Amino acid sequence: MNVLVIGSGGREDALGKKISESRLSPSLFFLPGNGGTGRYGTNIPGSVMDITGVIAACREHSIDYVVVAPDDPLAAGMVDALRGAGIPAFGPERMAARIESSKSFAKDLMRKYSIPTASYAVFTDSLSAIEYVSAQNYPVVIKADGLALGKGVIIAESREEAEAAIRSMMDDEAFGDAGRKIVIEEFLTGPEVTVLSFTDGKTIVPMISSMDHKRAHDKDTGPNTGGMGVIAPNPFFTDEIAAECMERIFLPTIRAMEKEGCPFLGCLYFGLMLTPDGPKVIEYNSRFGDPEAEAILPLLDSDILQIMQSVTEGRLSDADIKWKKLSSCCVVAASGGYPGKYGKGKAIEIGDTGDSAVYIAGAEEKDGTLFTSGGRVLSVVSLSDTLEGAVDKAYKAMESIHFDGMFYRKDIGKRALEALNGV
Ligand code: AMP
Ligand code: GLY
Repeated sequence: MNVLVIGSGGREDALGKKISESRLSPSLFFLPGNGGTGRYGTNIPGSVMDITGVIAACREHSIDYVVVAPDDPLAAGMVDALRGAGIPAFGPERMAARIESSKSFAKDLMRKYSIPTASYAVFTDSLSAIEYVSAQNYPVVIKADGLALGKGVIIAESREEAEAAIRSMMDDEAFGDAGRKIVIEEFLTGPEVTVLSFTDGKTIVPMISSMDHKRAHDKDTGPNTGGMGVIAPNPFFTDEIAAECMERIFLPTIRAMEKEGCPFLGCLYFGLMLTPDGPKVIEYNSRFGDPEAEAILPLLDSDILQIMQSVTEGRLSDADIKWKKLSSCCVVAASGGYPGKYGKGKAIEIGDTGDSAVYIAGAEEKDGTLFTSGGRVLSVVSLSDTLEGAVDKAYKAMESIHFDGMFYRKDIGKRALEALNGV
């Protein structure tokens, strides 16, 4: 069986590793892949947004199944096009991917189906938006409607900041088309939890909960990034809260999508905040999170390719999905300057990382050496019986990795450990 994974990040490297362990013994291909994915398969050059090119590559390599991992091709209808060409693919069709690609679609869905989320208003002109924020409490949250690489969210502390954010998104088009429409919402507080789930549109199976660390620097300072590290499971997400989320958020969401005529098949990502008024949805993503996938997939004790096929074929209720009773810690190493400007082409040395995995994200391989090519370069993922053990192991392994300008957060898991220890 020939399987193609579309994308080039650490998430795709982790998906590739897990798929390579499938009982179905797949031959793996990546488009375009990265300096790590060659460990499990063949990298095919190309753009993830070139739908015609991807279909041609599928024909050339006799691909039987495609996993579309990133948000942009999902939002552009890659899965629809592949299905149209007779090639089964994991991921939502374009109309279902709107749950991530349009924040106003997601918010309106939640309002219509009474799914708990921050109160909000949607604007398409800056003057009305500015008038609205003048009557709000601060901080207030301003979000570009479309995809903006995780950077389209501004938490404004004052009316001046809110006005500047609105002008930059709507008048100066800081996020291009993504910011022509904006969502302004109430600021929520509480621990954040990510729950990824498999869903075939009718059945939903949550994966192990996790906690991302989105800010660039320790103590949650610095700019927002794609994610600098993850721990799983998330100690704030108790069994009781999980049951409440299933009842009030997870099932209502997939039922709502089905009612709207766009059932969601794939990995649905719930970004939740556990507020004093109960769990609320901060955002949906239409895909595996990155770096959540790197932390969570190694905990999966079942065959991911078979699970994915059961999703695509609408028989997830029959799937057998088991998890290792371990904790996981993922620490991301980034290029100095990320998420702003950063250098590239630095040689990467990876020493003895013991039984910790190293997933490659922004790096290319040349003659057996890895060179940096992106902001988030790689991540180390360690498993252990305890969260403390997993964190220790990940940081020890990270000590054996070097490249010029490398930085990583030193406090991944700290807040979770404090919660576990009752601090
Ligand atoms: P998003 O891209 O929607 O996940 O937003 C990025 C980050 O901004 C989230 O992980 C939260 O930390 C923060 N955020 C987004 N919406 C809100 C909100 N309504 N209240 C408080 N923080 C928020
Ligand atoms: N780590 C957050 C995301 O993948 O959107």
